[in-house]
Amino acid sequence: MRLALLRRTLTAKLLAGQLAVIVAGSATLALVAFAVGPGIFHRHVRNALGYVPPDVLRHLDSAFADALVLSLALGIAAATATAAAVGWLVWTRLVRPLRRLAVAARRISRGDYGSRVTVAGSDELAVLGRAFNEMAASLDSAEERRRRLLSDVAHELRTPLATIDAYLEGLADGVVEPGPATWKLLRSETGRLGRLTEDVAKVSRAEERQLDLRLQRVQARALLETAAQAAAPAFAAKGVRLEVVPASGSPEIDVDVDRLGEVLANLLENALLHTPSGGVVTLAARRDGDDALLSVADTGVGLAAEDLERVFERFYRIDRARSRDRGGSGIGLAIARALVEAHGGEIWAESPGVGHGARFLCRIPAAP
Ligand SMILES: Nc1ncnc2c1ncn2[C@@H]1O[C@H](COP(=O)(O)OP(=O)(O)OP(=O)(O)O)[C@@H](O)[C@H]1O
Ligand SMILES: [Mg+2]
Repeated sequence: MRLALLRRTLTAKLLAGQLAVIVAGSATLALVAFAVGPGIFHRHVRNALGYVPPDVLRHLDSAFADALVLSLALGIAAATATAAAVGWLVWTRLVRPLRRLAVAARRISRGDYGSRVTVAGSDELAVLGRAFNEMAASLDSAEERRRRLLSDVAHELRTPLATIDAYLEGLADGVVEPGPATWKLLRSETGRLGRLTEDVAKVSRAEERQLDLRLQRVQARALLETAAQAAAPAFAAKGVRLEVVPASGSPEIDVDVDRLGEVLANLLENALLHTPSGGVVTLAARRDGDDALLSVADTGVGLAAEDLERVFERFYRIDRARSRDRGGSGIGLAIARALVEAHGGEIWAESPGVGHGARFLCRIPAAP
């Protein structure tokens, strides 16, 4: 093996360390045994036997030296074998998993976000492996969200751009009259593009959970009252009644008041838009186990079963033509869902069917 490689691998470093310990230990042992051992040996022999003839002493000396050499040799062999075994263990338990981790990390850095490592046991390496897999999963889903957002945005940009393009072409060919109506239409399409870019930034921030929530303990009912107050003029103008159900023991929740206010405002805006004048929109909050359940119910056009989940998708609108007139991007509920989920809650829609009103519910963990 080349020296540079030896210096680089963990196993080689460990083996070199163990070798140094063995060499130093054996050298010390040999030095002490051969320098001091014979003197002590002679003293014991003389104490036990009195005068010993020189040839007998020489014989005893060589027997003593042989025993020393043999035990040293056996000791060194045993230590070396143990060092090799420890090296092998370190290689399989530490070096191999670390190498696999490095390979997986490199794959991720090349954009293969599906890469994971197998984790067994509960030691520090397993903890590292699990943390690595979690990181990979979160990168994977962020990448997936980014891809979906891009394709959604491209899809949404196409319509206003096509309209503007068609009008400009018509103007150039003299087919479309240049006049206030045309300018107004073109302005409304560019306005729509502008709103779209704002909405996209908002929803992507919300979905990436880059929201720094400023949590505050509030009564759920107080939130509803504030939202109702803000929406009251619009409801009065359309002739839709807005009611806040008097709650018995309204739960307390830890929420970012502005963000959750935004959710309620979105839900109220939708309810008002889809409820004809003479209808009623009802706000309620109650405790449900460990959670607070907030609801916005209307007597409006309602939702078909297949739309109950889809309305939370980005840019999804049931009645595209009508929403477009009003300038809605179909993003309000996607933002609402991201905001509620950032609070550790969930949001969903219920409806007995088209024409029978809709109810949007938010479940938020109640304050302990
Ligand atoms: N209360 C409701 N009753 C019936 N349909 C609803 C109700 N709320 C939402 N919807 C449907 O769900 C769709 C998505 O709603 P969302 O709030 O996400 O978008 P939007 O209101 O169209 O536009 P934006 O909120 O971005 O201005 C709406 O276009 C509408 O078709
Ligand atoms: Mg909306």
